Amino acid sequence: MRIILLGSPGAGKGTLAAEMSKKYSVAHISTGDIFRENVKNNTPLGREARYYMDAGKLVPDDIVNAMMEDRLREPDCEKGFILDGFPRTVPQAKALEKILEDLHLSLDGVVFLDVDEETVVKRLSGRRTCRSCGAIYNVAFRPSAKGDRCEKCGGELYQREDDSEEVIRKRLKVFYDQTAPVISYYEGKNMFVRLRSARNSHSLLEELEAAFGGTE
Ligand code: AP5
Repeated sequence: MRIILLGSPGAGKGTLAAEMSKKYSVAHISTGDIFRENVKNNTPLGREARYYMDAGKLVPDDIVNAMMEDRLREPDCEKGFILDGFPRTVPQAKALEKILEDLHLSLDGVVFLDVDEETVVKRLSGRRTCRSCGAIYNVAFRPSAKGDRCEKCGGELYQREDDSEEVIRKRLKVFYDQTAPVISYYEGKNMFVRLRSARNSHSLLEELEAAFGGTE
């Protein structure tokens, strides 16, 4: 299974990708998670990415494309992958095509999770993420049974720095300006599916499986 999940900030890409990755035992590749890990470890990539992330802007294409080329060559991608947060610009989509061509691979689907702006702001201001395992919760829609600790691993739950309302609005603007053209780029190709994200991620997974006829 090789799938791209597209959607605005807060559309539910990370939540759905985690469920799909678990169910199908394929790699979940989140560019945002890779950048946050590099920021946490204060690597040169992390120091560069942080400047853009804190401002709600996109990290430049050349940095993202080089990082993804390396990541997609790793052995865990051989069984398949779910791309969460990449591509986010048309040049990134073209770079992905070239990488897949070099690897003699093709995509099975491109899924756009469609959600309205006010839902996004509500979801993101309530999001909490586990510092240890990355599990995603929401104080309003999906609280942890262990309060401010992760119910899976007991790790501390934290609020992302880019989840303030001001930065969320900037990220949404970047999405409309730079990522919406990626949706048009894939729309019309027969592997494109649009799903309304305003339902729980289990129902979304069922809908997705129906759309792709039981993806394996
Ligand atoms: P990234 O981490 O990818 O952030 P994002 O795209 O803004 O997406 P989010 O992680 O905010 O949302 P999501 O759709 O994954 O939603 P989630 O499942 O968590 O990127 C961060 C930054 O890194 C970017 O701003 C940029 O600077 C940089 N970057 C990353 N990729 C890049 C690239 N390719 N090029 C350049 N720069 C890049 O859900 C959100 C909340 O809603 C959670 O609390 C969850 O519990 C809840 N929720 C989820 N689904 C549902 C549902 N169905 N019903 C109710 N609640 C739900």
